[in-house]
Amino acid sequence: MKNDVIKRARRHLTPALVFHTDIVVKKASGIYVEAEDGQTYVDFTAGLATANLGHCPAEVVSAARAQMDKLIHSGCIFYYESEAALSERLASIAPKGIDMFFFSNSGSEAVEGAIKLARFYTGRQGIISFMGGFHGRTFGALTLTTSSVRYRRKYFPLLPSVFHSPYPYCYRCPMGQEVNTCSVDCVQYLERIFKYQTPAEEVAAVIIEPVLGEGGYIVPPHKFVKRLSELCRSEGILIIADEVQSGFGRTGKWFASEHLGLKPDIMTMAKGIASGFPLSAVGSTKKIMSKWTPGAHGTTFGGNPVSCAAASATIDKIERDNVLVNAERMGGYALKRLREMKERHPSIGDVRGLGLMIGVEFTKKDGTPDKETLLRVMKRCLRKGLIIIECGVDKNVARLMPPLIIRKEEMEKALDIFEEALG
Ligand SMILES: Cc1ncc(COP(=O)(O)O)c(C=O)c1O
Repeated sequence: MKNDVIKRARRHLTPALVFHTDIVVKKASGIYVEAEDGQTYVDFTAGLATANLGHCPAEVVSAARAQMDKLIHSGCIFYYESEAALSERLASIAPKGIDMFFFSNSGSEAVEGAIKLARFYTGRQGIISFMGGFHGRTFGALTLTTSSVRYRRKYFPLLPSVFHSPYPYCYRCPMGQEVNTCSVDCVQYLERIFKYQTPAEEVAAVIIEPVLGEGGYIVPPHKFVKRLSELCRSEGILIIADEVQSGFGRTGKWFASEHLGLKPDIMTMAKGIASGFPLSAVGSTKKIMSKWTPGAHGTTFGGNPVSCAAASATIDKIERDNVLVNAERMGGYALKRLREMKERHPSIGDVRGLGLMIGVEFTKKDGTPDKETLLRVMKRCLRKGLIIIECGVDKNVARLMPPLIIRKEEMEKALDIFEEALG
């Protein structure tokens, strides 16, 4: 059965799609995935940081079912309750001032919308993104993405007027500095871009992942965020926070920007927003959004009524069950245990993260990235029923992003498996 599904999928699905495992799922519930061959796995990927409430959460499923009986599609022909309700719910949880939204389907689409909005509002063309960032695969989003050259190969030319600046990856500082003595050289690099490559007054926006995702699960220092924000404000450049991966409780707060004191002008959201139903959003202030004239952007499927109902039910459940607190607690516990493991296992070079967005970087004795050891660890974990995937340009960072509803005993067990696999 398993091989049959894989064989059929491989016959008609493009090889460009990469599947991280060869598990064929029968059904999934909470943090568990049941495979066709009978084995049960703990899903530490949450379907790529999306099933934040676990797979098929009952309240979300029933909200979606109820909506399906009423209206499945609008195509911007009619107004409907579930979209209006979601916009109110989002305004109540988004960072202060972000209170108008454009709904679309995927993270990439939200990033495209954010680029368009920034250009439209400012009348400037330039966009700055950070090295190692992942913002999606459509052409605009891909131009901003530099988490690996494999996403960009053979697709040039990309969007013009996009510039890249180093992300503060302090464990391997791109500017060759030490954490304690660094004078936020990453921001100084940006100033150099304004001196050598593009005048600041032609830059519409800087887009940043508040916690770098695909690029290696990296948390930037506060002083970087502060200096970056000051620079953008002084030059009239908008800040776009790409919270597609770090949002909806992943870091123990609704949005990772809150940890860092980052005050975005525009935000992108997707993944955890609707527990796996396709939905994304560009959020911004009334001041900026109200300048986006009718017809300047649009969609057929965006803001799907069922996805909107699922999203409101997701937000309700996160609030009702104190899921943010659980993510913070379980994240703190995991970080502590992983840091203890680092002392016992020299193959772990760094442990970092916020909430349940945790990276464990594997290094060789000489400090260079160690992809092979991580691959062995992931394979052993999988054999023991724990699904973990990697990130980082060198594929040497284990990214732990379990559903946020994980309980202490489940976390303990998973970390036991991880440590056994290290051994
Ligand atoms: C930060 C970030 N932005 C954008 C995207 C693109 O989202 P999608 O794959 O839904 O297009 C991703 C996907 O991983 C992401 O992590």
